[in-house]
Amino acid sequence: MRMVDIIQKKKHGEILAENEINFVVNGYVNEEIPDYQMSAFLMAVYFKGMNKREIADLTLAFVDSGDKNDLSNIQGIKVDKHSSGGVGDKLSLVIIPLVASVGIPVAKMSGRGLGHTGGTIDKLESIEGFKTVLDRETFVNNVNTHKMAIVGQSANLTPADKKIYALRDVTATVDSIPLIASSIMSKKIASGADCIVLDVKVGSGAFMKTVDEAIELAKTMVEIGKSLNRKTIAVVTDMSQPLGHEVGNANEVKEAIEILKGNGAEDETTIALTLASYMVVLGGAYKDFSTAYDELSKIIKSGAAIKKFKELVQIQGGNPELVDNPNMLPQSKYHLEIKASESGYVSAIDAEKIGITAMLLGAGRKKKEDTIDFSAGVTMVKKVGDNVKAGDVLCILHTNIEEQQEAGELSKKAYSFTDMEPKSLRYIYEVIQ
Ligand code: URA
Repeated sequence: MRMVDIIQKKKHGEILAENEINFVVNGYVNEEIPDYQMSAFLMAVYFKGMNKREIADLTLAFVDSGDKNDLSNIQGIKVDKHSSGGVGDKLSLVIIPLVASVGIPVAKMSGRGLGHTGGTIDKLESIEGFKTVLDRETFVNNVNTHKMAIVGQSANLTPADKKIYALRDVTATVDSIPLIASSIMSKKIASGADCIVLDVKVGSGAFMKTVDEAIELAKTMVEIGKSLNRKTIAVVTDMSQPLGHEVGNANEVKEAIEILKGNGAEDETTIALTLASYMVVLGGAYKDFSTAYDELSKIIKSGAAIKKFKELVQIQGGNPELVDNPNMLPQSKYHLEIKASESGYVSAIDAEKIGITAMLLGAGRKKKEDTIDFSAGVTMVKKVGDNVKAGDVLCILHTNIEEQQEAGELSKKAYSFTDMEPKSLRYIYEVIQ
């Protein structure tokens, strides 16, 4: 078999056989196929696509390239959740204790942030002492005893996806539905969950910019899940502005605590409850979505959800007192108010620009090796639909870097205004199951 023939076939839109897909993935991982041929192949997939069978084969080739997490020692139906990546998305911090509080086990592996999107593991590490590496026995015991545990993705989980993702990042081939779907689903399959709930983001802060594209991605992932015997539900949710009011790490933990106490912003509370409700229905706790939604809302109101988050912090080595005293989280030195220079209604907030602003302030990484400043971030004072007068504060930049001109200008550019009150945004566009 020759790589050049496979590139040629895909260039003409032909369907690849399973052994051809395995040849490409294994050859690239083993360094028999060079970056330039893989780049050409990825671009051919970008333009010509893949059918369902090819995408499932690509997913399995990624899964087989590394370790598979064995969750068989964990009792009950294991349900996992994944977001396709957003700005201000702290929902895993809310969903893990919420789902665990009704007895459904959550054995979660999460990633770190890169570029304009944040990662759950980075957010949790802003809690002093919180361990995101646990040995297998502790991980399994914590899930069996407390119904929850979270760790960073093990180094050898889907290494083929890791290597190919890095190449996609520099060859403008990230936003391809077959490539995103196989990348996300391979990590979920290798993580070992029985059922998967996917949060597919759409809008300025997401890879999918239109609802139609996001629905297509959602359908593709649900089909892969089903074809590999995992019950999978995808919820298409709004990312046309940052989620909630906080973007960063420590400040997102603070906001997650507020959501769990019942004081969260409407957008993130609704989406968190929706995703968690589908998870607990798949896990067998409730028979239908609306019962689950009502019960989980009551759990937040009763204080049981925030109590469960305290338990999570404690069992993973952090100080649970921070839940009652969030000022124990890292605080930055500078807080710069960005003010409106015109009056009107906020019509849009470019979430990607706010994500990049947070990164410039120190909250994210430009390169994988960069360290992050947990205290850095952005507070979104004004959101879409708010009425603003010139001089009002739009957002506040938190940082330890004295010089913030670029971040200041970018965050201001993220805001657009209109004279007429804009239509209110939908939080949830579609549910695919
Ligand atoms: N998230 C992933 O894990 N992979 C992609 O390709 C895109 C988003």
